[in-house]
Amino acid sequence: MVTHLQSAYSPQEIFALLKLQFDLGVDEAVTDAPEIWRELAPVATHAASHPTPPVKRASAPAAAPAPQKRAEIQPSIASAIAAARTLADQATTLAELEEAVRRFDGCALKRTASNTVFARGNPHSAVMLIGEAPGAEEDKMGIPFCGPSGQLLDKMMASIGLNAPDGFYITNTIFWRPPGNRQPSAEEIAICKPLVEKHIALIQPKLIVMVGGTATKALLDSSEGITRLRLKRMAYENAYMKAAVTVRATFHPSYLLRQPMAKRDAWQDMLAIRRELFG
Ligand code: URA
Repeated sequence: MVTHLQSAYSPQEIFALLKLQFDLGVDEAVTDAPEIWRELAPVATHAASHPTPPVKRASAPAAAPAPQKRAEIQPSIASAIAAARTLADQATTLAELEEAVRRFDGCALKRTASNTVFARGNPHSAVMLIGEAPGAEEDKMGIPFCGPSGQLLDKMMASIGLNAPDGFYITNTIFWRPPGNRQPSAEEIAICKPLVEKHIALIQPKLIVMVGGTATKALLDSSEGITRLRLKRMAYENAYMKAAVTVRATFHPSYLLRQPMAKRDAWQDMLAIRRELFG
């Protein structure tokens, strides 16, 4: 591939395109060939048969218009939310909802993600955990919380007798990995929200556990931090639900991996979850 590129681009152009990809969040190789290359720089595929005069593509900014082109094809946020709402309204079963989420093209994150990450665990369990967004491992596997933070979360749940895969059901507020593991934006959360709301209504859990501050604030429309929210027993209801359910929040396991001292508080949260479920 490098040989091919060398024949069409100067080293400066190759460096500029690599930097552009990095800025877009492409921080790891998931396929043997750079698929995004064709999209960002269509000239590369024509170079062999129609060489572009060097003067026209000599400067690095030649690649700069590509992101604008990508942005143009994005639907407006409002119409993406409306499209998600329509799909959520139409789904009458969990399988239909999953199909709808996989089909949904309104969230731009889908274009940089490798997989749609829907859910794992027991849909008949009394407890539904909702995290933030898939990370690198989840994006590769298409399974939520299957990386290091998920392994810690599984251990925490097992400590109160809720063993994966049957003891709980788990999903995220966002179905696609934000590039470079950045936090999902308010727009991305708003676009996925109707689908998350229907997800909760179809699972009908007895208890929702919000995992981490971003997910908690997003679902509960709260500006309070996780440190305070995790101490509260709250009620949650959305338009698809017949009745409100109890919701509790806890620290995100990736925070606990960085701040092991907080595991003590997280253990208190686990006990509170256990009490909710088993009295
Ligand atoms: N963090 C999350 O919030 N969700 C995942 O699925 C993985 C890591």
